Amino acid sequence: MQYDLLVHNIGQLILPKETTAPLKGEEMKQLMIMENAAFAVKSGTIAWIGSNDEATHIKPLKRINAQKKVVSPGLVDPHTHLVFGGSREHELALKQRGVPYLEILAKGGGILSTVEATRMASEEELYEKASFHLNRFLSYGVTTLEAKSGYGLDPETELKQLQVVKRLQEKFPVSIVSTFLGPHAIPPTYKGNEDEFLEKMVELLDHVRNENLAEFADIFCETGVFSLQQSKYFLQKAKEKGFGLKIHADEIDSLGGTELAVELGATSADHLVAASNKAINMLSTSNTIAVLLPGTTFYLGKDTYARAREMIDEGAAVALATDYNPGSCVTENLQLIMSLAALKLKMTPEEIWNAVTVNAAFAIGKGEEAGTLTVGKKANFVIWDIPNYLYLPYHFGVNHTNSVYIEGTRVWRRNDNV
Ligand code: NIG
Ligand code: FE
Repeated sequence: MQYDLLVHNIGQLILPKETTAPLKGEEMKQLMIMENAAFAVKSGTIAWIGSNDEATHIKPLKRINAQKKVVSPGLVDPHTHLVFGGSREHELALKQRGVPYLEILAKGGGILSTVEATRMASEEELYEKASFHLNRFLSYGVTTLEAKSGYGLDPETELKQLQVVKRLQEKFPVSIVSTFLGPHAIPPTYKGNEDEFLEKMVELLDHVRNENLAEFADIFCETGVFSLQQSKYFLQKAKEKGFGLKIHADEIDSLGGTELAVELGATSADHLVAASNKAINMLSTSNTIAVLLPGTTFYLGKDTYARAREMIDEGAAVALATDYNPGSCVTENLQLIMSLAALKLKMTPEEIWNAVTVNAAFAIGKGEEAGTLTVGKKANFVIWDIPNYLYLPYHFGVNHTNSVYIEGTRVWRRNDNV
């Protein structure tokens, strides 16, 4: 076969297991590392994987000498709030004085201040801003990500956000999965009439579905936001209407959102810092993926992190994400999250790589397309400036990408002066 591209002289090729379901428990420790490897690409798809010696017989149209570097599948970020207006740097001083996250929200700040800014912004402004940040995600090696709405809290602005995601999907090579998070907070005009607001968001689900604006529905189940009953009502409706389910669950208080996610067969339950023993046990016997967000715990200045070790040791599937948003985790650096997973969640390097590739892909319904490098799959990959796969979580806070490829085409490259 005449290959378009050959990537050869790879020091370590990271090959998460090809699977039809997320990796759970012990399986998360499996990670194939192929030394002195090479692979070939044809029409944007992986067409051959083998040893560097075998590759000497291949005469491709183009070659990339990986110079003994590490190569992995493109990273997948399964939880971001990519599209929003404004920023909240003024809240940092409040946080330093110890004002809790939910108190800032209750006073009309936090999410509600971003809602103001997002309502004020034009679609064009939101698109430009999100494009800038999406490019930054790409620079960190992310080739697939999820993007949530939830800073509109009214039909017009929620749809404006989703429309921006749709334009980004059309314009960018990055694969983007869209999630409707209409019930992200209670708008001040609905205080005391929370159920009425929720009903409005349920009604909006039909429109979102008909216009094909989101594949998943999500809700913030938390004290002072949506109760367990309200979350159940919304997610059940979303399920009936054909959405995949996600939930912001047990982030601050243990309300039982994780158990609800398992009961409803949700694709993922996210945050889970305060998840109960029962919740962890239920996760381990289900395919609902625990999407952990240690950057958020770090950014909110908390000492207690999600119990990733217990989750994995009991047999659950864990994925990692940035939670990129303007309030509780302001970073596009998924590599930093990998370091926090090592340092704070005590996850092993193998578990961490699986959590940002194969399991992250399953957490957004993309397990068949993304997260692994297999013959027949899209050639989305990252060449890393690291000596071996253990090195990435170890050297924290910087960008280790050398270059990023989507469907065999280079979409980002490190500037040699950096
Ligand atoms: O996932 N927890 C709720 N929502 C976001 C934060 C949104 C914000 O503060 O703007 C989160 O952490
Ligand atoms: Fe979030």
